[in-house]
Amino acid sequence: MTSALFSPLTVGPMSLPNRIAVAPMCQYSASDGTPGDWHTQHWMSLGMSGAGMITVEATGVERHGRITHRCLGLYSDDNEAAIASRLAAARRVAPKGTRFGIQLAHAGRKASVHIPWHGGGPLGPGEDAWQTVAPSAIPYWPDGPVPLALDEPGIDRVIGHFVAAAERAARIGVDFVEVHAAHGYLLHSFLSPLTNHRADHWGCSLENRMRLARAVVRAVHAAVPATMAVGARLSCTDWVDGGITPDEAVAVASALKADGAVYICASAGGLRPDIRPPEAPSYLVPFAERIRRETGVVTRAVGLIDEPQQAEAIVADGKADIVALGRAMLADPRWPWRAASILGEELRPIGQYARCAGVIRKWAPPASEGEAAA
Ligand SMILES: Cc1cc2nc3c(=O)[nH]c(=O)nc-3n(C[C@H](O)[C@H](O)[C@H](O)COP(=O)(O)O)c2cc1C
Repeated sequence: MTSALFSPLTVGPMSLPNRIAVAPMCQYSASDGTPGDWHTQHWMSLGMSGAGMITVEATGVERHGRITHRCLGLYSDDNEAAIASRLAAARRVAPKGTRFGIQLAHAGRKASVHIPWHGGGPLGPGEDAWQTVAPSAIPYWPDGPVPLALDEPGIDRVIGHFVAAAERAARIGVDFVEVHAAHGYLLHSFLSPLTNHRADHWGCSLENRMRLARAVVRAVHAAVPATMAVGARLSCTDWVDGGITPDEAVAVASALKADGAVYICASAGGLRPDIRPPEAPSYLVPFAERIRRETGVVTRAVGLIDEPQQAEAIVADGKADIVALGRAMLADPRWPWRAASILGEELRPIGQYARCAGVIRKWAPPASEGEAAA
């Protein structure tokens, strides 16, 4: 049978062999932004997976735009050369047509912290902490470091950093770049009224709050060749009154589409540490569905999607065009092979591993025609 999940898709200038995406996921394993052996094995493993769209983790467009000292960056020649060579290794083992992209990010007021398995708290004295930046001087933690409210030259510099990183990404030869405007980082903090208290033309009205995200998407789009796709990731709700609303997210998605974004990944939350999202399987899919329906832009759904039939139904029912998996791909980078088996698609592991196909079929037998089509 032909599943919706395994059908190809055109996303602006980019063709995807299937609708399975790897969500961007920080690895906290770089050194001054430069990837090492960890990234080689990680990207090669994801490259082999059979997922059509692989999004490299949030990658700081400047040194101080990273979350931690261990985050990946794309602000130096060393960063660029190492990402290029290590991604080239991943491409060599990836099925033909696999698309690789980089999520470009600025961590804003959530920067200058420890890596998660060292607690994730703010860096202290003697830990090379840095001054964070934001639309307004509102700390992430109630008693945490206060970010500097960006002035006009500071905002211009941020846009310039995104452009420079996009140019580096183009030189590396990735298929797409994704502008990170979600999860409480700099661009999202401009979008949300909870963190943007500015009275100038960067704050207050939605038009003003989305000005920076729009400027970045436009500038990135202009900086990369027409053969490269530009997408964006949005937080469609802050899960609390007074935050960004799904209605506003639709308007932002529509504006970013006009600015050159060819897909939107509909995520949510991340603005404040005290807000807990109501996590449940597919809980973010309705945001993607609305954006898809109301703007016509290609949408990527994400969030607790880990069963092949679940992913299949999201695409088959027209709720999203692409399904991104995060934690499920860490748990099982062979997820697409398993999904192919269950959904009755041809199973084609890389040659060296071809003899495992029988095991996968045994572990993940095809569902009956009726079940797979549900
Ligand atoms: C280890 C880890 C790192 C993450 N890093 C990023 C990131 O760099 N950029 C981003 O937009 N989201 C990041 N996320 C969020 C994921 O992309 C994804 O949206 C989230 O995990 C929900 O999807 P899931 O339920 O399939 O894991 C991260 C999630 C995890 C688990």
